[in-house]
Amino acid sequence: MTPMLKTVTDTAPQVDSRPVQIQARGVDKVFNVPGHPVVALQNIDLDVRQGEFVCLLGPSGCGKSTLLNAVAGFQPPTRGSILVEGRPITEPGPDRGMVFQEYALFPWMTVAENVAFGLQIKKLPKAEIAATVERLLEKLHLTDFRNRYPKDLSGGMRQRVAIARVLALDSPILLMDEPFGALDALTRRTLQDELLRIWEEVGKTVLFVTHSIEESIYLADRIIVMTYRPGTIKRDIAVEMPRPRDAAAPEFNRLKRELAQLVMEEQQRFSQDEIRSVTAD
Ligand SMILES: Nc1ncnc2c1ncn2[C@@H]1O[C@H](COP(=O)(O)OP(=O)(O)OP(=O)(O)O)[C@@H](O)[C@H]1O
Ligand SMILES: [Mg+2]
Repeated sequence: MTPMLKTVTDTAPQVDSRPVQIQARGVDKVFNVPGHPVVALQNIDLDVRQGEFVCLLGPSGCGKSTLLNAVAGFQPPTRGSILVEGRPITEPGPDRGMVFQEYALFPWMTVAENVAFGLQIKKLPKAEIAATVERLLEKLHLTDFRNRYPKDLSGGMRQRVAIARVLALDSPILLMDEPFGALDALTRRTLQDELLRIWEEVGKTVLFVTHSIEESIYLADRIIVMTYRPGTIKRDIAVEMPRPRDAAAPEFNRLKRELAQLVMEEQQRFSQDEIRSVTAD
């Protein structure tokens, strides 16, 4: 892995003494597409510490979701290992909650029922479920929408429900795959702020996939820039600006330019690949 790049040079970096919670070592993932195997991930080494907010950034097809799904236990790596708190990941587990871009809610359940679902599966006492649901509805500003069905909610509201549902399970790790990708800019910013507020409050570890440079700078403690096919780690950048971050600040813009350059190089490789595949058809 390339060394960490410091982005704020006037203060010495703090030594991070938090334990490593997610550890990927030598991870490859190859999809066996007949005729041309796709190397989605190659030799990924990544440590995420307890309580860190880490963004995976890169253009389409660079393996962000593949890496997140491997950590989630949905798709095992072809080679290498992923450990969570020292245990090898072989399947999904209650220690890792996932939020997807598409609002994976049950359409036949109300907001409150969706949030309660995982707790009912765990067979927790009714009063405990009710108290947790109330607390989370309040935290995500959903109390007034508790009896609505997902189809009657805006995209932003549906994503709040998806976040509340995952928080209900109280997993120490939140895995988020472009959770705000389909939202308009204002709703997106509101939910980013709420996610940061909740993250600071509950101290979870967040691994967050995005292809938005600005989103990654706004949110992350560290940004992992990935290369396009094979997906490798191109840069591991610590973002040391205090929060809330001002997208108009010179530091923010300097990092934005640096990341744009890194991502653009990969975007060009993606575009060339697409053109090649079209002309080969
Ligand atoms: N099930 C699969 N079978 C074959 N190829 C796959 C499969 N899943 C992903 N790939 C390929 O692996 C590569 C990485 O895909 P992945 O979905 O992880 O990218 P991504 O960075 O999440 O992209 P996006 O930003 O578009 O979501 C891509 O080239 C993709 O086509
Ligand atoms: Mg993806």
